Amino acid sequence: MSTIILGIESSCDDTSAAVIKDGILLSNVIASQKVHEEYGGVVPELASRAHQQNIVPVVDTAIKRAGIDKSEISAIAFTRGPGLLGSLLVGTSFAKGLSLGLNIPLVDVNHLHGHVLSHFVKRQESDTVPEFPYLCLLISGGNSQLIHVRSPYDMEVIGKTIDDAAGEAFDKCAKVMGLPYPGGPHIDRLAAEGDASRFKFSKPHIQGLDYSFSGLKTSFLYTLRDNLKTDPDFIEKNKADLAASLQRTIIEILLDKLKKAVKLTGVSTVAIGGGVSANSGVREAIAEYCRKNSLNAFIPERAFTTDNAAMVAIAGYFKYLNQDFCKLDEAPYARVTI
Ligand code: KG4
Repeated sequence: MSTIILGIESSCDDTSAAVIKDGILLSNVIASQKVHEEYGGVVPELASRAHQQNIVPVVDTAIKRAGIDKSEISAIAFTRGPGLLGSLLVGTSFAKGLSLGLNIPLVDVNHLHGHVLSHFVKRQESDTVPEFPYLCLLISGGNSQLIHVRSPYDMEVIGKTIDDAAGEAFDKCAKVMGLPYPGGPHIDRLAAEGDASRFKFSKPHIQGLDYSFSGLKTSFLYTLRDNLKTDPDFIEKNKADLAASLQRTIIEILLDKLKKAVKLTGVSTVAIGGGVSANSGVREAIAEYCRKNSLNAFIPERAFTTDNAAMVAIAGYFKYLNQDFCKLDEAPYARVTI
């Protein structure tokens, strides 16, 4: 008999539902929330309210697009954390209600496991997936982590940021350049037209596999401040070069620790995930590094880099196979690690 998992994601500002049948994606619906744009960041209370409006039509559409009847669903997987508590509560409560109504098991998913396991979402049976063990570079607005993935149930964070995440470095530097939130995609777009060797920003000197991006941010700010003293139009005139130089530096920082981690673990496969893995420069640099070092590279489709329920459904699928279910009285959690 087939295993059909309905995944529900509501950890931040995207309401998403997906259906997976024996590991193959049947539907993945995402409703993004435009309401936050004018505030320059996600407003938690507005996010919860938007989730409440979106969740029923999003789940309904995902089931219809999958071409299944809800009575065929084997289990419901939902993001239990980390994320915004109010947002998580909407998805968690909905998932619990539906599992009660359909009398099927509930599977709680750590959002970060979802990003790490997103490479196992298949479009068709012949799609290749990573072999264990592999190294996952998880880079998002809230995380920068190197994860040694030994199985879907056994993963270890071997390096993480001690201050800002890579996405924060993109977003905060973009903000001081006057770019809209989130700034990462704007830096990516501008960088394509800029000279990446024009500006030099400082890089961290941290032992081991941990990351740091706050020094880069400060050095970026100082460059702007010093130049703006003599030229008030400095940012406008140099935005492409600034973006390209910033992006290059972030990539160098990411690659430096990734290379060390590959040596240390001896893995032959490298995967990336999280919002920043949508960055064109990051994708090219990882692909090139892997090609030169005969490593298998897993670079997600752009649709799977940001928050989506397909990754929640696949992480839930593995837990379902392991009979690892969640009780109805479990609460969501705002903070959790791998
Ligand atoms: O994983 P994600 O959707 O959720 C959070 O952790 O919040 O990641 C969002 C982050 C933001 O910092 C955003 O600027 C960044 O991913 N991002 C990018 C790109 N697309 C999204 N950063 C650089 N280049 C991109 N193309």
